[in-house]
Amino acid sequence: MVWKPAEIQEGLEIAVVGRVLHVFEEVGSTNDEAARLAEAGAPEGTAVLAERQFRGRGRLGRRWESPAGLGIWTSILFRPPLSPEEAPLFSLLGGVAASEAIGEVTGHLAGLKWPNDVMVAEKKAGGILAELQTEGRKVSHLVLGIGLNVNHTRDDFSEGLRNRATSLRMAEGKEVSRLQLLRVLYVKLDHWYDRLLREGPAPLLARYRTLCLTLGREVQVQGEGETFTGEAVDLSPRGELVVRLPTGDLRTVMAADVTLRGSSPEARRSGDVAGH
Ligand code: BTN
Repeated sequence: MVWKPAEIQEGLEIAVVGRVLHVFEEVGSTNDEAARLAEAGAPEGTAVLAERQFRGRGRLGRRWESPAGLGIWTSILFRPPLSPEEAPLFSLLGGVAASEAIGEVTGHLAGLKWPNDVMVAEKKAGGILAELQTEGRKVSHLVLGIGLNVNHTRDDFSEGLRNRATSLRMAEGKEVSRLQLLRVLYVKLDHWYDRLLREGPAPLLARYRTLCLTLGREVQVQGEGETFTGEAVDLSPRGELVVRLPTGDLRTVMAADVTLRGSSPEARRSGDVAGH
């Protein structure tokens, strides 16, 4: 079933996100559609939504399973007056909005694994893919892609994913309204984008810290050509992860694959945040 844009937008309190909405039965990737619209001059806040993606993408070129009718596969176009160095904040913005939307609809906030994983019951229930187009020192546009596994059963995931992925339905034990979740997601994205522009990154970072499952944990960081371990201690003002090495030195990590290791009192407390 393909929703009409008006069904999604009706009565929504949004200023920017989703004010123009393109809904497709299927596309390769909603991020690609949004980038195409961006090149054609689409206004900021334009959103693309698909029932199914046949070439859904995750970070680091990974495939993102996006079957019909089970999830939310959407991308939003931003033209932020920010520098390219501040763009990683958008992954965090997407995560906070997704977690809060899930919290509002199911009663259980999702946890966030830095930088872009939406976690429920210690498994991945969603992901964020922010893709940036620059023009010299400026951001010409940024596409924020969000994928949420909503009504999958275990069998809806490929075998390789079953142990690592979950859906809101699997965690809640009942179906979750995708329409309601999508509407709340756009409102949350709109809210946090507005706050980011008006107040700077501090409130967003503060909120992310409360939802983040990575801080306080021992992590293994696989960067370009090197691997190291340390304790994730904070976020930088640009949303990077600050890791304390065994030597006591601090390292700031931007785009890397972070694996959580061991557990800690913090981790158990964060588990409660996820609430599943
Ligand atoms: C990740 O966890 O690696 C990011 C996953 C992002 C998936 C979403 S689904 C909507 C948008 N379109 C894509 O092709 N990817 C993102």
